[in-house]
Amino acid sequence: MHRPVDQWIYNQDTINWNLKMADQKATNVTWHDGEVSREDRFSILRQRAATIWFTGLSGSGKSTIAVALERALYGIGKLSYRLDGDNVRLGINKNLGFSGADRKENIRRIGEVAKLFGDAGVIALSSFISPYKDDRDEVRELHEQAGIAFVEVFVDCSLAEAEKRDPKGLYKKARAGEIKNFTGIDDPYEAPTNPEIHLKTDEMSIEQEVQIVLDHLQENGFIIDQPLTRADDLAVAGASS
Ligand code: ADX
Repeated sequence: MHRPVDQWIYNQDTINWNLKMADQKATNVTWHDGEVSREDRFSILRQRAATIWFTGLSGSGKSTIAVALERALYGIGKLSYRLDGDNVRLGINKNLGFSGADRKENIRRIGEVAKLFGDAGVIALSSFISPYKDDRDEVRELHEQAGIAFVEVFVDCSLAEAEKRDPKGLYKKARAGEIKNFTGIDDPYEAPTNPEIHLKTDEMSIEQEVQIVLDHLQENGFIIDQPLTRADDLAVAGASS
């Protein structure tokens, strides 16, 4: 754990709140299975679910790659859904900021959401800085326990390049001290040590990057190519009658 100590102390109230939020509070609750399995959903969609977890600095290209990948998957008839840092922080995580504890809770909630998408059969494309290795590893573990594939993609870009791109003008503000705890400036980023995929966005084209992820999905059996057969149609019709 490499979070700045002053940040932990400063955010003690938030930490206590976060610890409480992550605890199992409800009692007497049990999981209720349905009659349609995850495998059934996979077979309808002709794909196997996975969470593609893009991690990297702000401006490294996470969202850009996810957008292009979503489009490419749509082009071959595969269902994916993007979970994006800025978008999610405008909705389900609107009450979270950028302290170490809030980032942890941000990633925990997204991990749970991605897992639900996976259970639904969808390929979740998640783009969050997710700067802390421990937090990412927790999401990986959550997926492993649930039997849903977790593909960590390190969207690797030097700080100098990300700062040069500065698509939202945030690095400039962070350098000027107008934004505090900005990743790469006055807040840490812990690079993945063993990601499934490593994309160097200051050396590769977006097309190459998308192809690498698509190849991974193909090679690992997430994309099932066969079209629905007449027998499948009849089976589905039979099941619903
Ligand atoms: S994370 O660290 O919790 O994973 P997340 O990916 O959700 O971060 O949000 C990052 C986005 O929030 C950045 O792309 C940027 O647009 C915005 N942002 C605003 N303040 C900060 C900050 N202090 N550090 C990093 N990103 C920030």
